[in-house]
Amino acid sequence: MSGVDALFWFQYHLRGLLIEVEGLQYRSYRLGSPDQPDPWFDDQTARTLGPGFLPGDLSVSMHLPENSVIDEATVQRSMAAARQLLDTVFPTSTRRIVTGTSWMLDDQLVELLPPDSQIIRLAQSFKLVPGWLDGEPQLLTSVFRQWGEVPKSGVARTRLQRAVLDHLDAGGHFRLRTGWRELDAVPLKGDLSTRRGMARSAPA
Ligand SMILES: CC(C)(COP(=O)(O)OP(=O)(O)OC[C@H]1O[C@@H](n2cnc3c(N)ncnc32)[C@H](O)[C@@H]1OP(=O)(O)O)[C@@H](O)C(=O)NCCC(=O)NCCS
Repeated sequence: MSGVDALFWFQYHLRGLLIEVEGLQYRSYRLGSPDQPDPWFDDQTARTLGPGFLPGDLSVSMHLPENSVIDEATVQRSMAAARQLLDTVFPTSTRRIVTGTSWMLDDQLVELLPPDSQIIRLAQSFKLVPGWLDGEPQLLTSVFRQWGEVPKSGVARTRLQRAVLDHLDAGGHFRLRTGWRELDAVPLKGDLSTRRGMARSAPA
């Protein structure tokens, strides 16, 4: 059988909610809406963190297309350009952060990949939200192109593929984690004013 298995994703393109900037994709969404990140902060923690984390605040999630370049310099260039475009297309005073929900944010990967791994470096630039969901189906799809099915041994060609199979063989599992990093609190070059009065201090 053939077809598109990610219609939910396609609709963001059609609704104009997804932009691609310098190779990375960003989706505009509202915290508290049905498609907010999962897991996310409980209401009390979100209130403590303040504007940018509250239900109803406009936010943005980051997505990595296949074979994207994700070194820190490229990511920062992309985020700065995305921020300027988002300010034009989705102006708001409540956006502060960019979020990501991915198997790539599973903190177990730091034990499995070498320290020069771009996945590890990018993951470490995000602060993690407590909690996780089962991340195996997404990971197996992204790493072996097989939805929810552990491939037979012998198919691993890359260091990540070998590490994943070893981890599963040893009885381990993978997690989907949510993380966030500042998008708006840091001034753009030449913009020394506090952006729309937002708090600058980042919660730990
Ligand atoms: C994002 C992406 C480009 C990062 O790749 P990268 O820059 O090579 O990442 P790293 O430096 O951490 O790679 C370390 C090792 O893991 C391998 N690796 C990384 N991502 C891989 C993937 N999706 N599948 C198989 N192997 C992968 C690399 O080839 C490298 O192994 P090698 O030295 O034997 O070649 C890559 O993971 C990718 O194309 N992913 C698909 C899209 C995706 O998963 N998006 C997120 C969905 S939630």
